[in-house]
Amino acid sequence: MARNTELHYMGNRHLLRRSVGFFAPYKLRVVIAIIAMLLYAPIAPALGWLTKFITDDVLIAKDIETLKLCIYGLVALIVFKGIFQFCQVYVMNTTGILVLKDMRRDLFNKIVRLPMPFFAESEIGMLMSRIVSDVVAVRQCLPSVIMFVRQIFTLVGLVGTVIYLDAYLAFWSLIVMPVALYPIIFFGKKIRKYGRKMQAELSGVNVVLEESFSGIKVIKAFANEVRESARFAVENGNLSKVIIRQIFYSETSSRVMDFVGAGAGATVLWIGGSRVIDGIITPGELTAFLVCLIQLYEPIKKINMSNHQIQQGLAGAERVFDIFDSPEIQIEEEGTTVLKHEFKELVFSDIKFTYPDAPRPALDGVSLTVKAGQRVAIVGPSGSGKTTLVNLIPRFYNAQQGEIHLNGMPIQEYTLRSLRLCLGLVSQDTFLFNEAVKENIAYGRDEYAMEDVKRAAEAAFAHDFIMEMPKGYDSVVGEGGVKISGGQKQRLTIARAIMKNPPLLILDEATSALDTESERVVQRALENLMQGRTSIVIAHRLSTILTADMIVVMEQGKIIATGTHKELLQSCPLYDRLYQMQFDDSYAE
Ligand SMILES: Nc1ncnc2c1ncn2[C@@H]1O[C@H](COP(=O)(O)OP(=O)(O)O)[C@@H](O)[C@H]1O
Ligand SMILES: [Mg+2]
Repeated sequence: MARNTELHYMGNRHLLRRSVGFFAPYKLRVVIAIIAMLLYAPIAPALGWLTKFITDDVLIAKDIETLKLCIYGLVALIVFKGIFQFCQVYVMNTTGILVLKDMRRDLFNKIVRLPMPFFAESEIGMLMSRIVSDVVAVRQCLPSVIMFVRQIFTLVGLVGTVIYLDAYLAFWSLIVMPVALYPIIFFGKKIRKYGRKMQAELSGVNVVLEESFSGIKVIKAFANEVRESARFAVENGNLSKVIIRQIFYSETSSRVMDFVGAGAGATVLWIGGSRVIDGIITPGELTAFLVCLIQLYEPIKKINMSNHQIQQGLAGAERVFDIFDSPEIQIEEEGTTVLKHEFKELVFSDIKFTYPDAPRPALDGVSLTVKAGQRVAIVGPSGSGKTTLVNLIPRFYNAQQGEIHLNGMPIQEYTLRSLRLCLGLVSQDTFLFNEAVKENIAYGRDEYAMEDVKRAAEAAFAHDFIMEMPKGYDSVVGEGGVKISGGQKQRLTIARAIMKNPPLLILDEATSALDTESERVVQRALENLMQGRTSIVIAHRLSTILTADMIVVMEQGKIIATGTHKELLQSCPLYDRLYQMQFDDSYAE
């Protein structure tokens, strides 16, 4: 990411501290990992020292007993290194996973409480990727920092040993270090670049897959398989191209590093070998030198890698903390009064509401009073603001101007929970969870009696078809469950509303997605639901409107008339037109 590092320095420090803060609950684990690391970090230079000792004091001195001891020592060192390294990597990585789990939990808890406008369709993908992928980068932060520090220690230890062994030789071999560093950085950049490209291409492939499979009916109906195959072939081809490039750079990088290593080794052997022959250093010192030099490669590579991971983690952290902090992203504000489970009166006074970025208000000065026991029907052309008006009652959105009073108090004064538990909302887009039928009907309750569920299902005319399902009330519906028709789905949501037993009911074109046949049953279920409750019904059928106590006609965000069917036919030309166009097709009863 090309960004001004100077400017972001403080920001990054803050981000890093905050990311690392997520590891606080796992202090003990982190400490264990660090101790394990401190224990095995000196083993790398120690191996060098041991080689020197073996060459000079054992091999050249031809001392077989000490050689045995040295072999034991060598094995012991390698076993220790293995054990401590395992502890460190295992503990650190599993801690990372635990932190990942915590962060996902916190993010989910925050996101699920965000106000409705955040869940506009365009934003859902973004919210998902915060929880799914960005946090993964963040959890890597602390392990990377620790790896970074560890490799610096190893590097210092090895370089120190090399200088101690032979400063002259060390000077000449370390001077080639920048030459060795260059390909590491060069290829590192290339490999990362193609890694990023691969992610992008992969998501391109995913988009085509998702679209084609979910739109398969349309594709087949238009006999458009060839075009879709071509579209997929393009994305698929791009992905392969990027991966092939990546393989090329990854393999070239390894081989170039071999050459650089061989070159450096040859140089050291030449200079060092001459010095051994001249008697300036011992053969053991030269072998120890070489052992240390070979081990230098790993820390250099890993320092580069962990630096990159830290950068990536910080980029992810920025996006994650964005959700946690952003001033516009606040958990819904609510009042403290608990709304009692009864309905007296609902008053809208001069409500004005504009959706974010919308050019004109969806509601423009709406005033309306709903009294206890009334059935109020709202009619109007599509886009006139009916849905928006009822969505203000559960505070899915907040009006920018005007007040809504419920039972004499502004709705903002109530706790959201008590307010929403008093409302029953049934709309045309039904949603069932991927759970048993009974769980869906009793949704939101921990404890419930089966008789209540059955009674609700019976009143919603759902009992009979539930009993025909393979496991009755225990059958799973929704995404991965039993397939049911739109009308049956709607009857289940009505049973759910009956079970909730709300004093105020809001029906938003609850039957508009259904065919006439299932609509008739659903309509009867709705009648049962409305029994003894106050209801606001957004209607598109004459039968619903005729039974209303009051009909409200909306147009372009305004209420243009209220009255009974007869009155409105006389006084309101729009109502007359709607009646001719929309309601007339309803079944005669
Ligand atoms: N989520 C939204 N974001 C922006 N504009 C919206 C949104 N929902 C509805 N609108 C707009 O608000 C107006 C009223 O919509 P709505 O209340 O859904 O009308 P109705 O239910 O009467 O068909 C329309 O102009 C619509 O385009
Ligand atoms: Mg609507």
